[in-house]
Amino acid sequence: MSAPFLLSARGLTRRYPGPRTAPWGRRTVTTALADADIDVREGTAVGIIGESGSGKSTLVRLLLALDVPTAGTVRFDGRPVDPRAGARALHWLRRQTGIVFQDPYASLDPRMSVGRIVGEPLWALDIDGDGRRGSMGRRERVHDVLADVGLTPDMAARYPHEFSGGQRQRIALARALVHRPRLLIGDEPLSALDVTVRAQILDVLARLRARDALTLVMVSHDIGVVQSLCDEVVVMKDGRIVEEGPTEKVLLQPQVAYTRRLLASIPAIDPDV
Ligand SMILES: Nc1ncnc2c1ncn2[C@@H]1O[C@H](COP(=O)(O)OP(=O)(O)OP(=O)(O)O)[C@@H](O)[C@H]1O
Ligand SMILES: [Mg+2]
Repeated sequence: MSAPFLLSARGLTRRYPGPRTAPWGRRTVTTALADADIDVREGTAVGIIGESGSGKSTLVRLLLALDVPTAGTVRFDGRPVDPRAGARALHWLRRQTGIVFQDPYASLDPRMSVGRIVGEPLWALDIDGDGRRGSMGRRERVHDVLADVGLTPDMAARYPHEFSGGQRQRIALARALVHRPRLLIGDEPLSALDVTVRAQILDVLARLRARDALTLVMVSHDIGVVQSLCDEVVVMKDGRIVEEGPTEKVLLQPQVAYTRRLLASIPAIDPDV
């Protein structure tokens, strides 16, 4: 029997020790995330919005065991995720998940060709290419995923600095998708891009959702992105989830004053999207 949710978290909390108030004083503590519960159904897209510092990145890092919570638990496909486990013990989670960050340049190793960057997860996770064993199959898979994100196979031989910001973000996306994850998490993956490129990458994501039933968790400052891509929205403030629900409902009839202020502070929502 499959789990009711692909991804579930309960009571996720992350505190960071802050600076001492004085050399002899106690350390302050920042609560980046407090008691967050989240459920993501397979095949759906969930947007996470909230002002800067509200805990969005902290939450997605914990969901993928890239950080250890102070309290709380995460389950993926019903299976408990142990963030303290070593890389080998987390293989199963890495195989089924991918992540893209905001800054496409920082996340790409400048000394590696695009083909190596994009294919690296196949080697690291010991995954064959499309139905073919060994490096031939993997190379083909890299070419296919480059095409999926709107790049061409010949780009595999080139290096990141030869590409524009938008192309680099496509490379980062290809790398996050090459091993066919069931869940893709984006931490503001589109915010460094101009409007046209953003629209193109949104198209790519929408197509992959339709074709592969990819599940998405998208942190975004951009309500347009959330509106066009996400079925549900989670609103965060000061490390807490303050509102959540279907995208239409949260964006058009926000129940919480903070959500209303947040939406008012962001460029207008296009009712036709
Ligand atoms: N490594 C860290 N050490 C100490 N405090 C941290 C650390 N990482 C995050 N914080 C604090 O936790 C809080 C939440 O940070 P987080 O990065 O999750 O916010 P965010 O919602 O992603 O913000 P942004 O929209 O600016 O990316 C902030 O107050 C931040 O200063
Ligand atoms: Mg962040």
